[in-house]
Amino acid sequence: MELFDVYPLFDIAPVKGEGIYLWDDKGNRYMDLYGGHAVISIGHSHPYYVQMLTKQLSQLGFYSNSVKIPQQQELADKLGKLSGYNDYHLFLCNSGAEANENALKLASFKNEKKKIIAFSNAFHGRTSLAVAATDNMSLKAQVNAHEDIVFLPLNDADAVTAAFDDTVCAVIIEGIQGVGGVNIPDASFLQLLRNLCDQYNASLILDEVQSGYGRSGYFFAHQYAGIKADLITVAKGMGNGFPVGGVLISPDFEAKHGMLGTTFGGNYLACAAAIAVLDVIEQEDLIRNAQVLGNYFVQQLQMIDGIKEVRGMGLMVGIELHENCTPVRTALLKEHRMFTGNSSNKNTLRMLPPLTITKAEIDMFLEAFVATLKTQTVA
Ligand SMILES: Cc1ncc(COP(=O)(O)O)c(C=O)c1O
Repeated sequence: MELFDVYPLFDIAPVKGEGIYLWDDKGNRYMDLYGGHAVISIGHSHPYYVQMLTKQLSQLGFYSNSVKIPQQQELADKLGKLSGYNDYHLFLCNSGAEANENALKLASFKNEKKKIIAFSNAFHGRTSLAVAATDNMSLKAQVNAHEDIVFLPLNDADAVTAAFDDTVCAVIIEGIQGVGGVNIPDASFLQLLRNLCDQYNASLILDEVQSGYGRSGYFFAHQYAGIKADLITVAKGMGNGFPVGGVLISPDFEAKHGMLGTTFGGNYLACAAAIAVLDVIEQEDLIRNAQVLGNYFVQQLQMIDGIKEVRGMGLMVGIELHENCTPVRTALLKEHRMFTGNSSNKNTLRMLPPLTITKAEIDMFLEAFVATLKTQTVA
């Protein structure tokens, strides 16, 4: 059987990882500044993470959500404490798209409405309602057409105010747009969304699947605006590579048996991975590292000639060039063995290094980046 060929692949086969580094099957070492789409939060094969998963696997890997799994409560307690959302409830699932499906469903269960406001360049996943709320027609099939979803320009206060009325069920917005090219919602825009949702009995859903878990220098990116969301979705960095996702749910939502569900969500291994990630974030002070080194990274990038714009918060950084960034990314990979990311904005490189990155590692990238810009661009 052949694989269903949906991914354009680099001709590289990584076989080992440690911290920010990957090694391929030929023994070449790569610096990973992208973490496989923002997944690697605490570095590859962190020893504590490996130990926690190995220990759990040797005891019990799986049983369904029909029995007590105390690790789920331990995870919820730690997540509540570190995120500042202690009084919220946690529903565990397996991916970012699934988290968003459940959040949108919960919003509609609660207020029994169905109009959704989403934003230009948004990405919320590839499943039914998540892809319907994603601003990319090429990802949608006929069955994903959804007439109740309205797309508005990000940070356009007038447009969102005009679009709001009593029929709005939910607003879904990324803490920082990732796939769209690292676009940051203004604090005042997030505050306006909070007020409008309160005024019209709608739910504010913050998709923190990519921007959450300390990446922005806050536990959740939206916290920089001083607001609270009704529903927050998480995945990616949550498990550092083990598939796990979740929805943080405000106490205003009432749970009913059977309302949501999943076979694999919250299994023992997923919980062990997610607990290990939170322990490491706390023990190694990684949110602060993301803030301090993210600021350093952005400041250094802003001094480089040939860049159109640097957008970033913490260690989620977009570097917009004056032209398509593919040649620069390819040269960084082939000549300097450095992984970087792209985005739906063809000119923007997306940088999502592990939160454990050091200043010396940032400097290594900057040196390679400057050299590459000189040879690859005409700016
Ligand atoms: C903001 C955001 N939401 C949701 C998703 C979907 O997550 P998953 O691929 O785990 O379904 C992604 C994936 O890139 C994302 O960036």
